[in-house]
Amino acid sequence: MSSSSFNAEEHKKMLRSYFNGQGFQRWASIYGDDKLSSVRNTVRQGHAVMMDKAFDWLQELPKNATVLDAGCGTGLFSIRLAKAGYKVKSVDIASQMVEKAKTEAIKQGVQKKIEFEVNTIESVSGAYDAVVCFDVLIHYPAEGFAQAFRNLSSLTKGSVIFTYAPYNKILAFQHWIGGYFPKKERRTTIQMIRDEEMQKAMATAGMKVKNREKISWGFYHTMLMNASHK
Ligand SMILES: C[S@@+](CC[C@H](N)C(=O)[O-])C[C@H]1O[C@@H](n2cnc3c(N)ncnc32)[C@H](O)[C@@H]1O
Repeated sequence: MSSSSFNAEEHKKMLRSYFNGQGFQRWASIYGDDKLSSVRNTVRQGHAVMMDKAFDWLQELPKNATVLDAGCGTGLFSIRLAKAGYKVKSVDIASQMVEKAKTEAIKQGVQKKIEFEVNTIESVSGAYDAVVCFDVLIHYPAEGFAQAFRNLSSLTKGSVIFTYAPYNKILAFQHWIGGYFPKKERRTTIQMIRDEEMQKAMATAGMKVKNREKISWGFYHTMLMNASHK
Protein backbone atom coordinates (compact mmCIF):
# COMPACT_ATOMS: atom_id res chain seq x y z
CA MET A 1 0.00 0.00 0.00
CA SER A 2 1.53 3.34 -0.95
CA SER A 3 1.48 5.95 1.80
CA SER A 4 -0.72 8.29 -0.26
CA SER A 5 -3.51 5.67 -0.36
CA PHE A 6 -3.68 5.44 3.44
CA ASN A 7 -7.14 6.31 4.73
CA ALA A 8 -7.00 6.78 8.51
CA GLU A 9 -10.77 6.46 9.06
CA GLU A 10 -11.10 3.29 6.97
CA HIS A 11 -8.08 1.79 8.69
CA LYS A 12 -9.49 2.44 12.18
CA LYS A 13 -12.84 1.00 11.11
CA MET A 14 -11.11 -2.19 9.96
CA LEU A 15 -9.07 -2.49 13.19
CA ARG A 16 -12.11 -1.79 15.40
CA SER A 17 -14.11 -4.47 13.66
CA TYR A 18 -11.26 -7.03 13.74
CA PHE A 19 -10.41 -6.50 17.42
CA ASN A 20 -14.06 -6.67 18.45
CA GLY A 21 -14.52 -10.03 16.75
CA GLN A 22 -12.03 -12.56 15.45
CA GLY A 23 -9.08 -10.55 16.80
CA PHE A 24 -10.58 -10.45 20.28
CA GLN A 25 -10.85 -14.26 20.39
CA ARG A 26 -7.31 -14.70 19.12
CA TRP A 27 -5.58 -12.19 21.38
CA ALA A 28 -7.66 -12.75 24.52
CA SER A 29 -6.62 -16.41 24.42
CA ILE A 30 -2.95 -15.55 23.85
CA TYR A 31 -2.99 -12.99 26.69
CA GLY A 32 -5.02 -15.24 28.97
CA ASP A 33 -4.23 -18.65 30.40
CA ASP A 34 -5.93 -20.92 27.84
CA LYS A 35 -3.95 -23.88 26.60
CA LEU A 36 -2.29 -22.81 23.34
CA SER A 37 -0.65 -24.40 20.31
CA SER A 38 3.15 -24.41 20.55
CA VAL A 39 3.34 -21.61 17.97
CA ARG A 40 0.97 -19.32 19.88
CA ASN A 41 2.65 -20.25 23.13
CA THR A 42 5.89 -18.69 21.85
CA VAL A 43 3.91 -15.53 21.07
CA ARG A 44 2.62 -15.47 24.66
CA GLN A 45 6.14 -16.00 26.02
CA GLY A 46 7.75 -13.43 23.72
CA HIS A 47 5.11 -10.87 24.67
CA ALA A 48 5.88 -11.51 28.37
CA VAL A 49 9.61 -11.01 27.73
CA MET A 50 8.82 -7.73 25.95
CA MET A 51 6.62 -6.51 28.84
CA ASP A 52 9.31 -7.37 31.43
CA LYS A 53 11.86 -5.26 29.54
CA ALA A 54 9.44 -2.32 29.16
CA PHE A 55 8.55 -2.55 32.84
CA ASP A 56 12.29 -2.30 33.68
CA TRP A 57 12.59 0.84 31.58
CA LEU A 58 9.69 2.43 33.48
CA GLN A 59 11.41 1.92 36.81
CA GLU A 60 12.96 5.40 36.47
CA LEU A 61 9.52 6.88 37.21
CA PRO A 62 8.24 7.58 40.73
CA LYS A 63 5.70 4.95 41.81
CA ASN A 64 2.68 7.28 41.73
CA ALA A 65 3.43 8.45 38.18
CA THR A 66 0.70 8.47 35.54
CA VAL A 67 1.02 6.13 32.58
CA LEU A 68 -1.13 5.89 29.46
CA ASP A 69 -1.51 2.35 28.10
CA ALA A 70 -2.54 3.06 24.51
CA GLY A 71 -4.20 0.06 22.89
CA CYS A 72 -4.37 -1.75 26.24
CA GLY A 73 -5.99 -4.95 24.91
CA THR A 74 -7.08 -7.22 27.75
CA GLY A 75 -5.19 -5.02 30.25
CA LEU A 76 -2.20 -7.23 31.04
CA PHE A 77 0.30 -4.36 31.28
CA SER A 78 -2.18 -1.84 32.75
CA ILE A 79 -2.92 -4.21 35.63
CA ARG A 80 0.76 -4.82 36.23
CA LEU A 81 1.37 -1.06 36.36
CA ALA A 82 -1.56 -0.51 38.72
CA LYS A 83 -0.30 -3.26 41.04
CA ALA A 84 3.10 -1.52 41.11
CA GLY A 85 1.45 1.73 42.25
CA TYR A 86 1.19 3.72 39.02
CA LYS A 87 -1.97 5.64 38.05
CA VAL A 88 -3.05 4.23 34.75
CA LYS A 89 -5.21 5.35 31.87
CA SER A 90 -6.09 2.45 29.59
CA VAL A 91 -7.61 3.05 26.18
CA ASP A 92 -8.47 0.72 23.35
CA ILE A 93 -10.34 1.10 20.08
CA ALA A 94 -12.28 -2.13 20.74
CA SER A 95 -14.97 -1.95 23.42
CA GLN A 96 -14.75 -5.73 23.85
CA MET A 97 -11.07 -5.36 24.86
CA VAL A 98 -11.85 -2.54 27.30
CA GLU A 99 -14.64 -4.60 28.90
CA LYS A 100 -12.31 -7.57 29.31
CA ALA A 101 -9.56 -5.35 30.78
CA LYS A 102 -12.07 -3.85 33.24
CA THR A 103 -13.31 -7.27 34.33
CA GLU A 104 -9.71 -8.42 34.91
CA ALA A 105 -8.86 -5.25 36.87
CA ILE A 106 -11.87 -5.82 39.13
CA LYS A 107 -10.90 -9.48 39.60
CA GLN A 108 -7.42 -8.42 40.64
CA GLY A 109 -8.62 -5.55 42.86
CA VAL A 110 -6.93 -2.67 41.02
CA GLN A 111 -9.89 -1.09 39.23
CA LYS A 112 -9.60 2.10 41.30
CA LYS A 113 -6.11 2.72 39.96
CA ILE A 114 -7.13 2.47 36.30
CA GLU A 115 -9.30 4.77 34.24
CA PHE A 116 -10.67 2.97 31.18
CA GLU A 117 -11.80 4.53 27.93
CA VAL A 118 -12.84 3.31 24.51
CA ASN A 119 -10.71 5.58 22.35
CA THR A 120 -7.99 5.48 19.73
CA ILE A 121 -4.26 6.11 19.87
CA GLU A 122 -4.85 8.93 17.37
CA SER A 123 -7.50 10.74 19.48
CA VAL A 124 -6.72 10.02 23.13
CA SER A 125 -5.81 13.19 25.03
CA GLY A 126 -4.37 14.18 28.42
CA ALA A 127 -0.93 14.51 30.00
CA TYR A 128 1.02 11.55 31.38
CA ASP A 129 4.46 10.89 32.82
CA ALA A 130 4.93 8.13 30.25
CA VAL A 131 3.05 6.48 27.40
CA VAL A 132 3.23 2.82 26.42
CA CYS A 133 1.85 1.33 23.22
CA PHE A 134 2.56 -2.35 22.67
CA ASP A 135 1.82 -4.37 19.56
CA VAL A 136 -0.59 -1.76 18.21
CA LEU A 137 1.57 0.28 15.82
CA ILE A 138 2.58 -3.00 14.14
CA HIS A 139 -0.85 -2.79 12.46
CA TYR A 140 -0.10 0.59 10.86
CA PRO A 141 1.65 1.48 7.61
CA ALA A 142 4.27 4.24 7.83
CA GLU A 143 1.92 7.18 7.30
CA GLY A 144 -0.61 6.06 9.91
CA PHE A 145 2.22 5.12 12.23
CA ALA A 146 3.65 8.67 12.03
CA GLN A 147 0.23 10.28 12.70
CA ALA A 148 -0.51 8.11 15.71
CA PHE A 149 3.02 8.38 17.08
CA ARG A 150 2.84 12.16 16.86
CA ASN A 151 -0.29 12.21 19.00
CA LEU A 152 1.16 9.79 21.56
CA SER A 153 4.37 11.81 21.93
CA SER A 154 2.39 15.04 22.45
CA LEU A 155 0.81 13.48 25.58
CA THR A 156 4.01 13.19 27.62
CA LYS A 157 7.21 15.03 28.45
CA GLY A 158 8.67 11.63 29.31
CA SER A 159 9.06 8.40 27.37
CA VAL A 160 6.93 6.78 24.72
CA ILE A 161 7.69 3.07 24.92
CA PHE A 162 6.32 1.13 21.96
CA THR A 163 6.84 -1.84 19.70
CA TYR A 164 7.06 -1.93 15.92
CA ALA A 165 8.07 -4.32 13.17
CA PRO A 166 11.27 -3.19 11.46
CA TYR A 167 11.43 -3.80 7.70
CA ASN A 168 12.91 -7.19 6.89
CA LYS A 169 13.29 -8.55 3.33
CA ILE A 170 12.49 -12.16 4.19
CA LEU A 171 9.34 -11.27 6.15
CA ALA A 172 8.27 -8.90 3.38
CA PHE A 173 8.54 -11.79 0.91
CA GLN A 174 6.51 -14.09 3.22
CA HIS A 175 3.81 -11.43 3.53
CA TRP A 176 3.74 -11.00 -0.23
CA ILE A 177 3.27 -14.76 -0.67
CA GLY A 178 0.68 -14.72 2.15
CA GLY A 179 -1.36 -12.26 0.08
CA TYR A 180 -2.21 -15.12 -2.31
CA PHE A 181 -3.88 -17.29 0.33
CA PRO A 182 -7.66 -17.15 0.84
CA LYS A 183 -8.61 -14.38 3.26
CA LYS A 184 -9.90 -16.58 6.07
CA GLU A 185 -6.47 -18.19 6.40
CA ARG A 186 -4.67 -14.91 6.81
CA ARG A 187 -3.69 -13.41 10.13
CA THR A 188 -3.69 -9.71 10.96
CA THR A 189 -1.25 -8.07 8.60
CA ILE A 190 1.89 -6.89 10.29
CA GLN A 191 3.08 -3.68 8.70
CA MET A 192 6.83 -3.26 8.58
CA ILE A 193 8.41 0.15 8.98
CA ARG A 194 11.63 1.04 7.15
CA ASP A 195 14.44 2.71 9.00
CA GLU A 196 14.11 5.97 7.10
CA GLU A 197 10.35 6.04 7.79
CA MET A 198 10.99 5.55 11.50
CA GLN A 199 13.58 8.33 11.53
CA LYS A 200 11.12 10.65 9.77
CA ALA A 201 8.32 9.83 12.23
CA MET A 202 10.69 10.43 15.15
CA ALA A 203 11.92 13.73 13.72
CA THR A 204 8.38 14.99 13.04
CA ALA A 205 7.37 14.17 16.61
CA GLY A 206 10.56 15.79 17.99
CA MET A 207 11.64 12.50 19.56
CA LYS A 208 14.88 10.53 19.74
CA VAL A 209 15.69 6.92 20.59
CA LYS A 210 16.66 6.40 24.22
CA ASN A 211 16.85 2.58 24.23
CA ARG A 212 15.91 -0.11 21.79
CA GLU A 213 15.84 -3.85 22.10
CA LYS A 214 15.01 -6.54 19.56
CA ILE A 215 12.80 -9.22 21.07
CA SER A 216 12.81 -12.54 19.20
CA TRP A 217 11.15 -15.50 20.81
CA GLY A 218 9.84 -18.32 18.62
CA PHE A 219 7.14 -16.70 16.47
CA TYR A 220 7.20 -13.40 18.37
CA HIS A 221 9.50 -10.83 16.77
CA THR A 222 9.36 -7.16 17.58
CA MET A 223 11.46 -4.10 18.22
CA LEU A 224 10.87 -2.49 21.59
CA MET A 225 11.69 1.21 21.57
CA ASN A 226 11.99 3.80 24.28
CA ALA A 227 11.70 7.26 22.72
CA SER A 228 12.13 10.55 24.54
CA HIS A 229 11.87 14.22 23.57
CA LYS A 230 14.96 15.87 22.06
C1 LIG B 1 -2.19 -7.21 19.63
S1 LIG B 1 -3.17 -6.31 20.77
C2 LIG B 1 -2.02 -5.68 22.02
C3 LIG B 1 -2.71 -5.37 23.36
C4 LIG B 1 -1.82 -4.83 24.47
N1 LIG B 1 -1.17 -3.60 24.09
C5 LIG B 1 -0.80 -5.84 24.92
O1 LIG B 1 0.36 -5.79 24.45
O2 LIG B 1 -1.14 -6.71 25.76
C6 LIG B 1 -3.50 -4.83 19.86
C7 LIG B 1 -4.53 -3.96 20.53
O3 LIG B 1 -4.52 -2.66 19.92
C8 LIG B 1 -5.85 -2.20 19.82
N2 LIG B 1 -5.89 -1.18 18.75
C9 LIG B 1 -5.70 -1.34 17.43
N3 LIG B 1 -5.77 -0.15 16.80
C10 LIG B 1 -5.98 0.78 17.76
C11 LIG B 1 -6.15 2.20 17.75
N4 LIG B 1 -6.10 2.87 16.62
N5 LIG B 1 -6.37 2.84 18.91
C12 LIG B 1 -6.45 2.13 20.08
N6 LIG B 1 -6.31 0.79 20.15
C13 LIG B 1 -6.07 0.13 19.00
C14 LIG B 1 -6.65 -3.45 19.52
O4 LIG B 1 -8.02 -3.31 19.77
C15 LIG B 1 -5.95 -4.47 20.43
O5 LIG B 1 -6.54 -4.50 21.71
